[in-house]
Amino acid sequence: MLIRKPDAIQSSEITPERVWRARRDLILGAGVAAAGLGLPGWAGRAWAANAPVGEPAVLPGQASPLSVMDKQTSLSDITSYNNYYEFGLDKSDPAAHAGKLQTRPWTVSVEGEVGKPRTFDIEELLKLAPMEERVYRLRCVEGWSMVIPWVGYSLSALLKQVEPTANAKYVEFVTVVQRDNMPGVRAGVLDWPYVEGLRIDEAMHPLAMLVFGLYGKVLPNQNGAPLRLAVPWKYGFKSAKSLVKIRLVEKQPVSSWIKAAPQEYGFYANVNPAVPHPRWSQASERRIGEDGLFSPKRKTLPFNGYADQVAALYQGMDLKANY
Ligand code: MTE
Repeated sequence: MLIRKPDAIQSSEITPERVWRARRDLILGAGVAAAGLGLPGWAGRAWAANAPVGEPAVLPGQASPLSVMDKQTSLSDITSYNNYYEFGLDKSDPAAHAGKLQTRPWTVSVEGEVGKPRTFDIEELLKLAPMEERVYRLRCVEGWSMVIPWVGYSLSALLKQVEPTANAKYVEFVTVVQRDNMPGVRAGVLDWPYVEGLRIDEAMHPLAMLVFGLYGKVLPNQNGAPLRLAVPWKYGFKSAKSLVKIRLVEKQPVSSWIKAAPQEYGFYANVNPAVPHPRWSQASERRIGEDGLFSPKRKTLPFNGYADQVAALYQGMDLKANY
C-alpha cells in the first residue's frame, strides 16, 4: 500500500510488515512514539469509547443473502489489524490511537450533481434503511484478506435520497480529519483528507455498502466509526472510513492513493489476480487468522469472488489498462 522509493525494494514478494516498518521509520521516525497518546493497544478500548458503560452499543442486522459462507475472521483480528493511516502506519496503530476519534456529533453532507443536496445527521442515517448483516470478504492490496460480518445497508439507499442528476457520473467520498486526534495526519504520509471514488453505477450496485457496525455492534473507531464504505469486489483502500462528505460529480475523482502514487494505484482497483501491483503479485492472499505466515496462501479470485454479481459493470473494458 505505502509508497517506497522504487530502488528500496528489489523483490516482488516482500512481507507487508517490512513495507510498513520501512515506511514508518522513514516518515514518522520517533514522531509517532513521541506523539503517542498513551492509549492502551487494546482494541476493545477504542470500541468502547462512545459507550457510557464501557461496552459497544448493539446494532443488529437482518441476515442478508449477499453474505458469503467463508469462515469469519475473529473479532480480535478485525479490530486489531487495521489500516487507518490517519492514526499511524503500523497495523496496531489504529486500535491504539483511534479512541481519540470524536464520533459525535457527526454529519454527512451529500452534495454536487444532485437535485436535493442535504446534510444528514448520523442518527438519521442509522434509521434511513433497515440494517442488514452482510458477511463480506475484504481483500487488501497488500496481500491479506479477512471475512467481516458488516452491519449496514446499500449505499444506493442514501444516494437515492438526494436524487442524482444526469451529470452525476462519479461519486467522491471524503473522510474526516481531526488533526488534534490523529497522529498520522500530523505526520503527513498522505494528502489529507483521505479521498476515494466510485463510478456512479458501482456506487449504486447493491453490494456497495454503507457500514455502521460489525459483529452486531456499532463500528469500532479503528474500523471507521461512525460510518464507512465496504466495496467487497475492490481492494480494501476503496472502502473509505469515517465518511463526512459524499459528492456526486461529473469527472472522475482523484483519490488520495492516485495522488500519492499514480504509477501504483488505479481508479478502479478491482481485485484482479491477473494484474500484479507494480512491485508484487496479486495472485494469492493470506487470510488473517487462518493461515500462519508460512502456510500456503489462498488463490485470489477475480473481483474477490464477486464476479457473478459485478463483472457486467465492466463489460467491454480492458481491465488490465483500467486497473
Ligand atoms: N479510510 C481512511 N479514512 N483511511 C485509511 O487509511 N485505509 C483503507 C481503507 N479505508 C484507510 C481507509 C485500507 S488500505 C484498507 S485495507 C481498509 O480501510 C482496511 O479496513 P479495516 O482496517 O477495517 O480492515
